[in-house]
This record gives sequence, structure tokens and C-alpha cells, in this order.
Amino acid sequence: MEEKDAGYDGTGKQIMDEIGKDRPRIIIFDTTLRDGEQSPGVSLNVEEKLQIGHQLERMGVNVLEAGFPIASPGDFQGVKRLAGELRDLQVAALARASEKDIDTAWDAIKGGANPRIHTFLATSDIHLKYKLRKSREQVLEMAAAAVKYAAAYTSNVEFSAEDASRSDLDFLCRVFEAVVDAGATTLNFPDTVGYAIPWDFGRMIRYVMENTKNIHRAVLSVHCHNDLGLATANVLSAIENGARQVECTINGIGERAGNTAMEEVVMAIRTRNDCLPYRTDIVTTEITSASRLVATLTGMQVQPNKAIVGANAFAHESGIHQDGVLKERTTYEIMDPRDVGLSQGSLVLGKHSGRHALKARLEELGYTLSDKEIDSVFVRFKELADRKKEIFTEDLKVLVAGEILKIPERFSLKYLHVAGGSGIKPTATVAIEEGGEKRITCSLGAGPVDAAFQAVKKLVRTDSILLRYNVQSITGGTDALGKVTVRLRDGDVEVNGQGADPDIITASVKAYLNALNRLEYMKQ
Ligand code: KIV
Ligand code: ZN
Repeated sequence: MEEKDAGYDGTGKQIMDEIGKDRPRIIIFDTTLRDGEQSPGVSLNVEEKLQIGHQLERMGVNVLEAGFPIASPGDFQGVKRLAGELRDLQVAALARASEKDIDTAWDAIKGGANPRIHTFLATSDIHLKYKLRKSREQVLEMAAAAVKYAAAYTSNVEFSAEDASRSDLDFLCRVFEAVVDAGATTLNFPDTVGYAIPWDFGRMIRYVMENTKNIHRAVLSVHCHNDLGLATANVLSAIENGARQVECTINGIGERAGNTAMEEVVMAIRTRNDCLPYRTDIVTTEITSASRLVATLTGMQVQPNKAIVGANAFAHESGIHQDGVLKERTTYEIMDPRDVGLSQGSLVLGKHSGRHALKARLEELGYTLSDKEIDSVFVRFKELADRKKEIFTEDLKVLVAGEILKIPERFSLKYLHVAGGSGIKPTATVAIEEGGEKRITCSLGAGPVDAAFQAVKKLVRTDSILLRYNVQSITGGTDALGKVTVRLRDGDVEVNGQGADPDIITASVKAYLNALNRLEYMKQ
């Protein structure tokens, strides 16, 4: 981890002074909680946003985009809490180029340490014609007026030219020049639809650097979507051509195919510093923890072959590779797994392992848990170890995820009995407890899971709709832990629930109740 510059105020202005010197700093602007939360099927409550926000702060993110406050009261509250609690980074809030949006964004972040208003307006002809129905001159005026309005609140104003990569570059330079004159200190060039190709994107960034007269008064930023799988490549090309802020998300989550993955950009700069002579403030050993936390809370699992954070990213299957790595790690590993917070230890825990062994293993895996959380994971670890001979790394991850996803339980499972098989009608008997009162019922269903869910539905009297049901076997073997994820919708609130157990019907009911408890929690 590099030492932070004394006197760096986090606004990014000093970065511009550093261009040309050895290793300019790249500002990391994380938008996991805004663009990332726009991923289909993701919705985080305020507590979950705070957990992610604290992790991003711990890992050295410079600017955290906390949400879009005008979008909903929940978004507003989330942004406000994050701005109030996070002091070591700037909290940004998104606003369209309208006074109402900007007022609301400012209201949400004004308690922050160095809050940033991030306002945006589309600049491509296609958006002007079909979406905005405005002329270029009107858009230019609107952009400058919005930035001027925002700059009356704070000098930390970012302007994004939505769909910049499909915009006329001369018009874009005029807009950028006007917004800098109006007070913008960061200019963001988004590849909104993921259309850019690395060398062409680099050419566009250079063009903007060379043809926006007052560009030296702002930081040029990029925000790339991954529709063609080129987001990281485009970002690196932009950096080579003058961009000094990167907008990205953990695990690359975001609209459609997602955003640039932070871990990829940071590790590319670190690993290939010979041809990418830049630096970031990111504590790379926090990457794995951040990735797991985001995957757990969003319910968006990371694909196994995902660069840096996928389960296979440091796994060697071929005998030749394994042999090479055993002789000399660098034969087949370009990064040290410990640098991203992954341990090399392969200690498998069993029923006789103690709290210390568990704690050590969790630390090796990159989890930072409080003593109370470790105690709670330990209790569940012992319960599992009684039923399953060996506990693998993947089992531990599930136990920790259960801890992270814990919320006040209105409904808890007290009893479950299912009958199923060939030639009989599946039935389930379920008992739950709510506020000290125990209720029991039974139900038929298409299969045992369906019968159990019908029984829970009767007991909880919920109108929620089941959107997704997914079962995953965590390790091999018939005694493997089964992890179930469900997604529920009630009105316009959507939540994920998770449950794990060697018995997949029990795991399913736990996941369903976890989601129902989350719905209750969200309603409150
Ligand atoms: O993709 C995009 O253009 C955006 C802007 C709001 C920055 O997310
Ligand atoms: Zn975006």
C-alpha cells in the first residue's frame, strides 16, 4: 500500500499537477452502491449499504457514489447515512441536470466530509433526439446551468456527459468547457452503452484532453460498461491517454453487463506497473473481503472464472501447472494470491477444531469479523461439524454469509417435517414462532419444497411473490451443505434471502423465512 500524499484533499485537483511525474495517482470512484445497485435483481437496505460502505472506506476508495437520492426515500436515507458515517472518503450523490435533483442530492450529502454532487446529462445526438428532444444548444445551456447551480452548494462538482462515447467530440468538448467554466472540477466521459473499443476510446480521451481549453482545471474521469467485455481494457487505454479518475464497481456489477471491475483495474496497474506507471490508494489485500461481502449482500454470485476474485482465479487444475507452481509460484502465477487477501493455507476444519483455529482460518480467508460475530459463526460451525465430517473453505464462506445476512427475526423456524417420494402426494408440516407465539400448519404441494413454502405462506400470511429460487451444492459429496437463495417481491420492495443446511428442504425454508424477515425489516 502506498503512503497517502500529505495534503491530498481527495478532490482530485492535485492529481493533475502530478501528470508527467513518476506514477500519477488514479482516483478510484466506486459506484457499487449506485450503478452496481442498478443491476437487475439487486436491492440493498440501509444497513447493508453501510456494511459495504465501511469496507470500501477500509480498502482506500477515494470517492464513493452512495446512490441517487431523488430516486426513492430509501435511496435518500441510504446516501444520508453513508455521508454521515464515512469520513475518510468523499461521498458522491447522483442528480440529473435539474434543480430539484441537485437540491435533493445536496440535502442527502451535505453532512459528509467532502461531499460531491454528480450531475449528468446526455450529449449524444441519439439521446438528444429520442430521449431529451432537445437541441445541442439547449443541452449545452442546461448542463452549464445545472453545474452552476450545484457549484453554489460545493466546489466539488462532477459532470457526466451521458453516452459520451457516441457523442460528437467537438460538441462534447464545448459542453465540457462550459461546465468547467460553470464550476465543475471533475469531467466524466461515460461509455454508457459499452460500445467503445480500447484504442478508439483512448483516441477519444486524448482528443478531449487536447481540445477542451480549460481541461487543466478539472480531472478527466471514465466510466465504462462491459457490454462487449471491454470495460477494463477501455479504462486502461483511457488512463494511458490522460484520464485520472476511474469509475468502477466491486465484482464489476452494474447495469446490464455491468461496470468496470475495480479489482481488475487496480491489479492490472499493480501487476503491470512497468507499462502502466500509475498508482492507486487501494489496499489490495481487502479485495477478496470486499468481493465476498458484495456477492453475499447483493445475491449476485461471482462467476468462478472471473479475473482476480473468481473461485478459480488462483486455482491450478493441470498437473503441469501444479508442478510448476510447486517448484516456483511465478511459473504460472502473475499475482501473489496473498496480495488480494487470499490465503494459501489449506487447513480443513473438523468437529474437534476450536474457536482459535476457526478464527485463524477466517482471517486467512480475508474476513474481518468482530468477536461477537466469530462466536456466532463458531456455534453454527459446531452444529455443522456434528453433521458433516470435514468443513471446507466453501462451507465457512456460507457460514460467514449467514452471519453477514443476519437481521432481526420476526419469524423463526421451529419444526419442519416433509413427506415425499414416488407415488405419494408431497406434504409438509411447519411450525414457526412469531413474538413468542408458536403456530403450526401443514400443506400439500407439487414437491416437498413447494409444500413447505405453501405451509410457511399460510403461517406468515404473506402476499409476496417468489421471483427466484436457486439451490447450490457448496462442496462435493451427498453430505454437502446446500445453499438456497430466494428472491421475493412485495409491492415495489424486492429482497433476497439465503439459507444453508445439509438438508436442502430445511435450507429452502430457512432461505424463505430469511427473505420474509428481510421484507418485514424493509417495511419498518
Ligand atoms: O453509464 C452512465 O452513463 C452513467 C452515468 C450516470 C454516469 O451511469
Ligand atoms: Zn453507468
